[in-house]
Amino acid sequence: MAYARLGKMAGRGYAFEIFGPRYPPRAVHQPKRHVMTLRLAPDTAGLNHAADLLRAGKLVAFPTETVYGLGADACNDAAVAAIYAAKGRPSFNPLIVHVPDLATAKCYVVFDDVADRLAAAFWPGALTLVLPLRPDAGISKLVTAGLPTLAVRVPDHPVGQGLLAAFDGPVAAPSANPSGRVSPTTADHVAAGLTGKIAAVVDGGGCGVGLESTILSTTPPTLLRAGGIPVEAISACLGTTLLTDQTPVSPSAPGQLASHYAPIGTVRLNVSDPRPGETLLGFGPVEAAFNLSPSGDTTEAAANLFAMLHALDAQGAKQIAVSPIPDRGLGAAINDRLRRAAAPR
Ligand code: TXA
Ligand code: MG
Repeated sequence: MAYARLGKMAGRGYAFEIFGPRYPPRAVHQPKRHVMTLRLAPDTAGLNHAADLLRAGKLVAFPTETVYGLGADACNDAAVAAIYAAKGRPSFNPLIVHVPDLATAKCYVVFDDVADRLAAAFWPGALTLVLPLRPDAGISKLVTAGLPTLAVRVPDHPVGQGLLAAFDGPVAAPSANPSGRVSPTTADHVAAGLTGKIAAVVDGGGCGVGLESTILSTTPPTLLRAGGIPVEAISACLGTTLLTDQTPVSPSAPGQLASHYAPIGTVRLNVSDPRPGETLLGFGPVEAAFNLSPSGDTTEAAANLFAMLHALDAQGAKQIAVSPIPDRGLGAAINDRLRRAAAPR
């Protein structure tokens, strides 16, 4: 009787097909199979292993202070393309490049006065700057989606910084979640979404900020995405109000899609009286199994937001009702994410 057995090359997209009488086996092309996803410790051995994987063109998820990023060598076209495949992103949208410090960022982009002031005030930290790309930067065109600008940031996390030091090169990284789903703030969230699709996740515990970075362009200072640094702090630093640009860089840029950051259940906003069957995601002094911040602190709420949406998914909540959340501080970024979570799908 004919039979087939998978050989060791399965991970590379090939399998040995062995049909009884036609031995020896021949390699046949197969759709890419499951990848073994390692969980690496955030110590020297783990970080060196992660850096070796990046150098080999593999994908490694790692913690930053905002959310876990899905990292690839930003100069390697095939590795960057693999990010889109692993996330199931609908199209090639520009990615943020992570660097260890301001001096390294200046190897890839051209800083102006505003960018220098913002970097001095907020780096390392949850601020991404979109600046003119240096033509000789060597960054894959898939990272910039062919734009003349590049988004750069310096993460404020010892494990993220440890990986950048061990790799010693620019790391392109979107949030480490399947496209359209809630961003990950723990290694378990990453594993739940991407196990079998990425080479490794470095487990550095929870992310302190819990929301993606604020994204700005600088001439003139323009908010492209609300995030972990409040707009008020940026305006105060520059002594000017920011323009806001809601124009997506491409029609389906993640983070700018109407429906994004969505849990599995439906989401209804500004709810004071939940209906029967709804699970309340509370804010402030309300009775709720999940409360983003009983004391009404928007920074605490940001840190809890994605973890609680993941927890609601895990317990099978079908209809999520969310308390009103003020727009002050990180409330603006929280409400931005929640509006996308509540948008028609
Ligand atoms: O906190 C964060 O920013 C996380 C962590 C991992 O660093 N990263 C993250 O990446 O949120 P991602 O890919 O989910 O979001 C990147 C956003 C997208 O909305 C993209 O459109 C925008 O940055 N972006 C990237 N390059 C750009 C460019 N050259 N011009 C305008 N927008 C850009
Ligand atoms: Mg994202």
